[in-house]
Amino acid sequence: MISIDMKETIRSYIHAECPWRDTLLWFPTIDSTNVQAMKLASEGAPHGTVLIAGHQTQGRGRLGRSFQSPEGTGVYLSVILRPDCPPEQLMHLTCAAGVAMMEAVEAVSGIRPQVKWINDLVIGSKKLGGILTQMSVDKGLVRYAVIGIGINCLQQEGDFPPEIAGLATSLSMATEKAIKPEVLAAAMVESLQKMSLRLFSEKGQIMEAYKQNCITLGKDIQVLRPDTIRPGVAMDLDEDGGLVVRYPDGSQETVSSGEVSVRGMYGYV
Ligand code: BTN
Repeated sequence: MISIDMKETIRSYIHAECPWRDTLLWFPTIDSTNVQAMKLASEGAPHGTVLIAGHQTQGRGRLGRSFQSPEGTGVYLSVILRPDCPPEQLMHLTCAAGVAMMEAVEAVSGIRPQVKWINDLVIGSKKLGGILTQMSVDKGLVRYAVIGIGINCLQQEGDFPPEIAGLATSLSMATEKAIKPEVLAAAMVESLQKMSLRLFSEKGQIMEAYKQNCITLGKDIQVLRPDTIRPGVAMDLDEDGGLVVRYPDGSQETVSSGEVSVRGMYGYV
């Protein structure tokens, strides 16, 4: 399908009332939708600008990792937000995007993914996709934020590189249905737009929905910092999505997503 058609195809699946339908940008190939969204935002692109790519050459994950983004099998999407608030009020943005993605994936596939704290979308014990949020702050206010999401859609087991094959899944593998990336992309745009309207007014409900679907809670985990690995138990989430961890010596710490990553004691989850 040629690129102009792909943009129109995605638009045709988005409800006419969704204002972000008119601020959609399609890129057959891009380095990273997040990198380009941050750039466009710095140049003045409006709230609700959505970038979707058929393929990313340098897809980015959290904490400097890469995100495999092969042609035509996944959705690679970023949206620019201009929330006009201090950054402390936006700490739950990744969790809110996670809840929006549970709803979008469930709407098109019938399966509700869960989340592995803080930004991995999972089905069972395998990774379906991930979320990367970034923001630019000036004089104590968020100038703009970008939510980037990648979801594996049509891959089969052998399509993943060996280093992630045992850890990754796709909507096709999980549902045995071939859900088109453009249909999923449209549902993601709608769901993110609706979430943007309730981001502050319904923060409590959003965090509760995240908590209910967070597979990390109650698990034995390892808290990974660049120079240390510390075992603990994931006890709870605070109101901003910080993870409350209890250590074997009885001490407790709330860790933030910017500084640590978490692994299950016996594997990925
Ligand atoms: C992670 O798994 O740590 C997060 C992955 C986020 C990937 C998406 S794909 C669209 C957007 N552009 C990027 O470069 N990254 C995000």
